[in-house]
Amino acid sequence: MRTLTQVLLHEQKGIVEVSWQDGTRGLFHGAWLRDNCPVYFDNSTGQRTKNTLQLGPEAYVLSACAAGPAKGQLSSGVSAEFLQVTWKDGFSHAFPSAWLRQHCYETRQHHQVNPRMWGRDLVSYFPGYVLPTLPYSDVVKVAAGSDAGWQTSAQGFVQWMVHLRDYGVALIEDVPTTPGTVMKMADLIAYHRKTHYGNSFQVVSARKPEHLAYTPVELEVHTDLNYRESSPGIQLLHCLAADAAGGESTFVDGFWVAETLRRESAEDYRTLCEVPIPFLVKDGEGFHYHKIPTICLDDAGRLVEIHFNERTRGPLELPAAVMGRVYRALAHFQAIACRPELCVEVKMKAGDMVAFNNRRILHGRKAFDPRTGMRHLEGTYVDMDEFLTCLRKHGVTPLSIVRAQEGSWARVVEGTDGLEEKGKRREPLGMVGMGGKGKGSAPRSSL
Ligand SMILES: [Fe+2]
Repeated sequence: MRTLTQVLLHEQKGIVEVSWQDGTRGLFHGAWLRDNCPVYFDNSTGQRTKNTLQLGPEAYVLSACAAGPAKGQLSSGVSAEFLQVTWKDGFSHAFPSAWLRQHCYETRQHHQVNPRMWGRDLVSYFPGYVLPTLPYSDVVKVAAGSDAGWQTSAQGFVQWMVHLRDYGVALIEDVPTTPGTVMKMADLIAYHRKTHYGNSFQVVSARKPEHLAYTPVELEVHTDLNYRESSPGIQLLHCLAADAAGGESTFVDGFWVAETLRRESAEDYRTLCEVPIPFLVKDGEGFHYHKIPTICLDDAGRLVEIHFNERTRGPLELPAAVMGRVYRALAHFQAIACRPELCVEVKMKAGDMVAFNNRRILHGRKAFDPRTGMRHLEGTYVDMDEFLTCLRKHGVTPLSIVRAQEGSWARVVEGTDGLEEKGKRREPLGMVGMGGKGKGSAPRSSL
């Protein structure tokens, strides 16, 4: 299936066209093949050792042909295991057909894992639970009497991360209610991220709060720390006490909000993709400030990030001609985010630990009455790139840069990750990136 049946050199365009046994066709630019030739990569570090950008005309392909296992040229009609390429400067290399198939950049996007967007119907996905949920004992293994023994339980930990990747939110129940546990969980992914709130933050009702989260008032759904140059990708919240009346946690899929907006108003969607919105927050005598569009798309127009927080949105600084359009679009986005059919509500209990993609999932909470009991959540953050690296480390790589065969580095696609849900694999309620690409939205990496 992965052997080559035909090789054509389009000399004028500098492109080599290959066909595999199953009928799949791939186009490889001669400069790309030279640039990613495995002999130019250090085996130990995987880093490029040759400055291929300086090759110029030498990178033009002189000849390309199919070759057999012994790398000798084949007679016609015989399938081959290599593509033998020779450049005008005499350099030659035999690329394995399987390597070419794996690195075929023309087809890679067809294998992209799409997020599974959801509304209130998420509660029907996992019978008995409101959110994708796993027991603590399935995710973490702890050697008796030893903190050093805190480690992941491979299968459960990966399943938890896959839930987090696909749905943007995942819960672990029955986690020991020891303060600091949330940081240990974050450190299983990589490192918890310290902010001006500390290594972790305590969501309790305070007498002199530095943040509205530390009061008992209702918090409308939002994403955190948009005022940072890079807002945390993953947020973890560990419920240590939940005795107070009220305080239900609320979650809304920001991707589904954006997709709904796109369907209802192409203009509002485009506006929120294009216009950076300022966010700011006090930090001692100074303040953090950053501008970013509400909806961020990648270079293929797919949704990758949402940034929305009415409490920390700064004054809009825009030409008068567009000010009204931006306010209308923001109000429309908020109105959709507040629709009950998009919201999942959960009363967290002591021992619950929820993790969510802070650049996708809007989170909030209902008001609570601190006179009726204690409500205490401990939270921390993990950077998105640490989460993505952890996924790859465990072999779960929807679309990523990973080390390929023969020591070269290139974009590699995977098929399925082997973690189908029991019984059924659900399709998203809608597909991402259907038009409406925001011209002003800086491309962001994809989860
Ligand atoms: Fe928050």
